[in-house]
Amino acid sequence: MRQLIFEVNNIRPIADKVFELILLGDTSDIIRPGQFVNIRVDGKYLRRPISVCDWDEDSLTLIFKVFGEGTEIMSRLQKGDKIDILSGLGNGFTVTDSKKALLVGGGVGVPPLYALAKKLIEQGVKPVVILGFASSKDVFYKNEFESLGLKTYVATVDGSEGTKGFVTDSIKENNLQCDYFYACGPMPMLKALCLELECPGQLSLEERMGCGFGACMGCSIITAKGSKRVCHDGPVFYKEDLLWT
Ligand SMILES: Cc1cc2nc3c(=O)[nH]c(=O)nc-3n(C[C@H](O)[C@H](O)[C@H](O)COP(=O)(O)OP(=O)(O)OC[C@H]3O[C@@H](n4cnc5c(N)ncnc54)[C@H](O)[C@@H]3O)c2cc1C
Ligand code: FES
Repeated sequence: MRQLIFEVNNIRPIADKVFELILLGDTSDIIRPGQFVNIRVDGKYLRRPISVCDWDEDSLTLIFKVFGEGTEIMSRLQKGDKIDILSGLGNGFTVTDSKKALLVGGGVGVPPLYALAKKLIEQGVKPVVILGFASSKDVFYKNEFESLGLKTYVATVDGSEGTKGFVTDSIKENNLQCDYFYACGPMPMLKALCLELECPGQLSLEERMGCGFGACMGCSIITAKGSKRVCHDGPVFYKEDLLWT
């Protein structure tokens, strides 16, 4: 982990209250899809954790939704602005060689799956993608996944696009089979996937965080392997290690 300064290269709205932010800087601390950065926001004591959506040697793509004051301030960033980032946080996904993989994202859980999709393709795996949102106005990156040559399904809770309901409804409706899954999204979605999919998988949790690098214990969860800090030991955990009550 390093504290680094990045420069805003581009920011654009891509769905309702959702922005794609492209930053320029030293990305050498980012080594795996599913890692995150922690962004200092003017006037806020705590940084805001955001997943890495994509990266190359000198640019970093993030996608964030405006939820509260911090992300609202971020949405007003402009080209040329400098931002202070803790880079290369978290463990990220471990790519397996399973051939029938599903990538399942819900809302702001979709971004880390994009870099993961590219990594899987590099390894010769063509995953099927299922993206869940509340409504069609919230849908983003469907075209980007399709441009990678991946079959991509959408589920919306109100039925305005794709399957009406949740990602699990889309999996059933389209009779999607898997020998492995990778998921990121809200806890109820992750729990439903663990209970309904028989295959093994990895899940990225978006727990509320304090420091973001393992010092405050503010993000601890109990797993089958004892107490773990989501920011440091995760955010990606194996299905069999997560305990659902
Ligand atoms: C590992 C990880 C990756 C994430 N990736 C993304 C992403 O790619 N895109 C995206 O839009 N959002 C992502 N989130 C959620 C994002 O961090 C929160 O939406 C954001 O911090 C809200 O800040 P705020 O000031 O707008 O809201 P406020 O509610 O005003 O925030 C108050 C405090 O609570 C924390 N907080 C609030 N909601 C969350 C949350 N869901 N998760 C963690 N902390 C929260 C904030 O960081 C802040 O410290 C991620 C969260 C984690 C933990
Ligand atoms: S947020 Fe401080 S230990 Fe995880």
